[in-house]
Amino acid sequence: MSCAHLAATAAGCETAFTVDASRVTFGRGCLAEVGVRARALGMTRAALFTDRQLRSSPWFAEVHASLRAVAIETAIFDDVAIEPTDASFEAAAQFAREARVDGYVSLGGGSVIDTAKAANLYATYPAPLRAYVNAPVGDARAIPGPLAPHLACPTTSGTGSEVTGIAIFDWLALHAKTGIASPRLRPSEALVDPRCTSTMPASVVAASGMDVLCHAAESFTARPFSTRPAPATPTARPLSQGANPWSDLGCREALRLLGSYLERAVRDAADVEAREGVMWAATLAGIAFGNAGVHVPHAMAYAVAGHVRTFRAAGYPDAPLVPHGMAVAVNAPAVFRETGALAPVRHLEAAALLGADVRGATPADAGDVLATRVIELMRAIAIPNGIAGVGYTSADVPVLVAGTLPQQRLLGNAPCEITEPLLAALFERALAYW
Ligand SMILES: [Fe+2]
Repeated sequence: MSCAHLAATAAGCETAFTVDASRVTFGRGCLAEVGVRARALGMTRAALFTDRQLRSSPWFAEVHASLRAVAIETAIFDDVAIEPTDASFEAAAQFAREARVDGYVSLGGGSVIDTAKAANLYATYPAPLRAYVNAPVGDARAIPGPLAPHLACPTTSGTGSEVTGIAIFDWLALHAKTGIASPRLRPSEALVDPRCTSTMPASVVAASGMDVLCHAAESFTARPFSTRPAPATPTARPLSQGANPWSDLGCREALRLLGSYLERAVRDAADVEAREGVMWAATLAGIAFGNAGVHVPHAMAYAVAGHVRTFRAAGYPDAPLVPHGMAVAVNAPAVFRETGALAPVRHLEAAALLGADVRGATPADAGDVLATRVIELMRAIAIPNGIAGVGYTSADVPVLVAGTLPQQRLLGNAPCEITEPLLAALFERALAYW
């Protein structure tokens, strides 16, 4: 089973890439800026999205006070599902339509920020949910114009949702994890305050940190933008445009920071330097993957998370759940072993940035060297040993493959063609790494 190179034909292929990013303010204490910044964006009545747990946190109190201090009224929505669904997106959109707001502030992890994006979209341009959802599940209709301003304040160092134009949800009746992707969905500004991560449990830092690692490593090894067919019009250039010089910058620094800080950030909540370093890595990797796109480990993760039976994760709600970062990480070593031969220099560089000793490594070793370093980090921060560690066996491989194949937006961003037999082989190899 091998992964064949995609032919890079110059004729008809892309020759340019687009740099899109939100305005980002990063640093300890910047949460207090939210009111003044919301005012500057023209907000007078804001929908304030958060979750029930965060609503009693000091971070929520600070954001709420900052908005009140500049006389911005708030309509609070805290009914965000940990993994958003079609129903929870619809409920949030209905809330936003009825609340008659002129802007959005979101405080939370990726689920909260994604829910605010969807509410903003469907309140601004009402339509059936499927209208803007990615094909083939939805109609992938283009968003007609700009949305209301949205200030996103992440409280976890992981998803990067505050800087991407992507909102992910479970379409329950269809048993499909899908999403909406458009530059118009990207929050107007992100306020990234690393103090918020001081209250994250170690297990959440570990899982979300692996999500960051995979955002960076997948974007860095994604199919180069110059091998994608050029779009019919420049505005049709996709968000997932492939690895490009802009995304490479963020990926490299994110990988270096994770190599230095991820283990420390998991081990010690009081290690301010490490937690801040991982938060900055999450921001950089978010900007990078929002521009380049992730690939196979994330595509496989939808199936791994979607078919969970009994696995529960410490630090998360007491229900069957494979946290997103964990669902991605368990596939990553198998994928990098496969893709290493296609871009050996990049795989070796990623491994070195993560702290691996690559002296003497040959191009033939590249995929294994990166996979081995990722596995070392997984073991060090108590991530399960593969998909067997979150409850799967060989007998589950067909259903996992079937659950991955619809993720064409991600699979098409891989550096090689991903066939059904190859996916089956990748899941088999991902069963247990130790
Ligand atoms: Fe992710």
